[in-house]
Amino acid sequence: MPDSPYDIEILNVTKQFGETKAVDNLTMRVERGKFYSFLGPSGCGKTTTLRMIAGFEQPTQGEIRIGGENVEGLPPYKRNVNTVFQHYALFPHMNVFDNVAYGLRQKKTPDAEIKTRVHEALQMVRLTGREKSFPKQMSGGQQQRVALARALVNRPQVLLLDEPLGALDLKLRKQMQLELKTLQTQVGITFIYVTHDQEEALTMSDYIAVMNAGRVLQLDKPMMIYERPATKFVADFIGESNFIKGRIASADSEYIQVEGDGMKIVAPARADLGVGREVLVAIRPERMLLSQIAIGDRPNTFAARIEEVVYSGSSTAYQVRVNENALLTIREASVGTDASKSDLKRGEAVYVHWEPATSRVLVE
Ligand SMILES: Nc1ncnc2c1ncn2[C@@H]1O[C@H](COP(=O)(O)OP(=O)(O)OP(=O)(O)O)[C@@H](O)[C@H]1O
Ligand SMILES: [Mg+2]
Repeated sequence: MPDSPYDIEILNVTKQFGETKAVDNLTMRVERGKFYSFLGPSGCGKTTTLRMIAGFEQPTQGEIRIGGENVEGLPPYKRNVNTVFQHYALFPHMNVFDNVAYGLRQKKTPDAEIKTRVHEALQMVRLTGREKSFPKQMSGGQQQRVALARALVNRPQVLLLDEPLGALDLKLRKQMQLELKTLQTQVGITFIYVTHDQEEALTMSDYIAVMNAGRVLQLDKPMMIYERPATKFVADFIGESNFIKGRIASADSEYIQVEGDGMKIVAPARADLGVGREVLVAIRPERMLLSQIAIGDRPNTFAARIEEVVYSGSSTAYQVRVNENALLTIREASVGTDASKSDLKRGEAVYVHWEPATSRVLVE
């Protein structure tokens, strides 16, 4: 078997369901021992990609390799991967021990080994002592942990997880996110995690593959996905962004000036984009600042008026009009009941400012 640094290689894979191209010429390599997420809107092909890795679907075109080996024609049970689904589908008439032991019994593993491995898997998911419980006696989070143990007990090379926390309430989901991440780091196996929840992907992943319409638009570390989105779709789907449409008016090696929506914006240079090019400048709302006094003639400073104030606990969003074409959203930490700072009200005249380095120039 070829020795590969990648656990999974997806090479020019397309999956067609009749007229629908669920996955469109996708190429991606998954490093050993890392936590990957597929993140994208409903119907973008996340589950289909996972099912092709697991062997439940066959690619229409292209090749999938696991551990360097082409797995074409290999049935799911012969692939060294296990899948955990959103609906954990435990056997209701079996207790926790028997649920977790099921796969090993099918493989005629000796009893003593089953005992050791089930014990070890339950320890990983912190369910030691619950061997005799039945699924209906456990919470959703605990049941999902049993499902995890049932997959981990097989010691797969790669664990595939398809929205495994989707059925849990927000608080439990957040707790399980941290637990899953810790577990992955401890056991060191590769996780491929499917979600349409951007915060979940940012929290847990070493790498995020942002998908849309059957393609991977960007594969990168969470911070790079957030700070350096490659396309408008990525900048829009992950977090919030202000977009200003314009044209490059001048450029040097360090900065470019973009004119658009009645503003002159300074942004970091992009060697591949020259004067005259139509671009989109993306700025995160939390990278913009509001003040009531003008701050000298710094770049990216505009007079504006507050149109809306939306308080949401830890932060407050301000909708600010610069001119009739430009309405920007600025997000700041809430000042609470501090009266000296609470006069940023609707109708107030203000200045908006952001550092050139926080602008991201994109092409549509
Ligand atoms: N068995 C199938 N037969 C026909 N079309 C399918 C089948 N499975 C998926 N599709 C289509 O392929 C596309 C991708 O579906 P997929 O389930 O991979 O999306 P997803 O990204 O997992 O979405 P979600 O977030 O809603 O789970 C969709 O248009 C879907 O309707
Ligand atoms: Mg899906």
